Amino acid sequence: MTTPVPPEHHPARWQRFMAHRTQNMKSSAIRELLKITQLPDVISFAGGLPAPELFPVREIEEACSYLLKQEPKLALQYSTTEGHLPLREYLAESMAQYGVHHGPDSILITTGSQQALDLIGKIFIDPGSPVVTGRPTYLGAIQAWRAYEARFITVPLDEHGMEVERIEETVGDQPIRFIYVLPNFHNPAGTTLPEERRRLLVEIARKHDWLIIEDDPYGALRYTGEDITPIAAMAPERTIYLGTFSKTLTPGLRIGWLVAPPEIRKPLVQAKQGADLHTSTFDQMIANDIAQRGILKAHIRQLCHVYGERMNTMLDALEEFWPEECVWTRPEGGLFLWARAPETCDTMGMMEAALERKVAYVPGVNFYPDADGGHCAMRLNFSNAQPDQIVEGIRRLGLTLKETVAACTPTN
Ligand SMILES: Cc1ncc(COP(=O)(O)O)c(C=O)c1O
Repeated sequence: MTTPVPPEHHPARWQRFMAHRTQNMKSSAIRELLKITQLPDVISFAGGLPAPELFPVREIEEACSYLLKQEPKLALQYSTTEGHLPLREYLAESMAQYGVHHGPDSILITTGSQQALDLIGKIFIDPGSPVVTGRPTYLGAIQAWRAYEARFITVPLDEHGMEVERIEETVGDQPIRFIYVLPNFHNPAGTTLPEERRRLLVEIARKHDWLIIEDDPYGALRYTGEDITPIAAMAPERTIYLGTFSKTLTPGLRIGWLVAPPEIRKPLVQAKQGADLHTSTFDQMIANDIAQRGILKAHIRQLCHVYGERMNTMLDALEEFWPEECVWTRPEGGLFLWARAPETCDTMGMMEAALERKVAYVPGVNFYPDADGGHCAMRLNFSNAQPDQIVEGIRRLGLTLKETVAACTPTN
């Protein structure tokens, strides 16, 4: 039973004083769902969490004591908004290996790449501004930009990511502010945008003088196939590239970065000054220490090995336990795959039955900015469960799906 809210704490109590934009703000469905799925006996494919047992705890502990002994005055002090220079130098060098040749002065360290999405909203979105995203797209971007009252124009995805060839017909002559893409191991769809589509996107963006946001938290987590040139390497003059240590090191440090042409980076720096002055100096120095000592690269190799195995375990279990009417993506990396039941099924409605069997996923509708699709789809995370739990969870979901498919298939 829920306790009644006393009148002085009623949700509408201060509403008349609140900015118009708060009316568009919603709690993330995933954060809400995580509360249920964190119950100990639930097998959760719902979150996007890295495997905590792989966190390099000892190395982080060493980095902390080294920094507190050797550089306490720097590590514990206020710092510049742009971010710790040695870390930006490291990032510039490592991105150059992928063909992104921006120097450290084009980089801004952010408090997770979620902050980068928020800052982008802050400088580019007026109420009603049209922005282009995929359908589906990353929930955190929808959440960040809804708060700035963006109007979402959505382009469908197929098994190779955004159908770039449909952007022009979808946008028409609307004055869009930017196109948001997730080229590597899309969250939630698990797709990878092939090189030809990236080149076509750049060609279209150049023709119309459009800006591209390339969000790439998973690019380093590739388990099969070859790396593909980042869009930021193809069109450095019009791409804001977002990176993060959340999936390759630990999300708790909250260290991300963005790379942008100088004329864009400057207002982003100003926007960040108003938000948090700068990202935690100490955390930036920890990430830098781990990266400079070569620990990060070794850690990423380990993650690729473990997550690649978990992904294959999930794919095999899906083949074994799921009804033949269901389909799913076969990602080349990242943390997620995207599965679909027949069109007549409702994965939101199925959630209750799944939770009764103590297994969780995220219903597909959450990833559609206009909630106009994804009702028969779901996102499954494979990084945060052990292989035996993955098999058992997929088996339980398979049972639930068989019942759902039988119940929603029309009989003549
Ligand atoms: C596509 C995408 N962008 C951004 C983020 C935010 O990551 P963080 O703020 O932890 O760097 C996430 C996290 O799951 C993500 O999947």
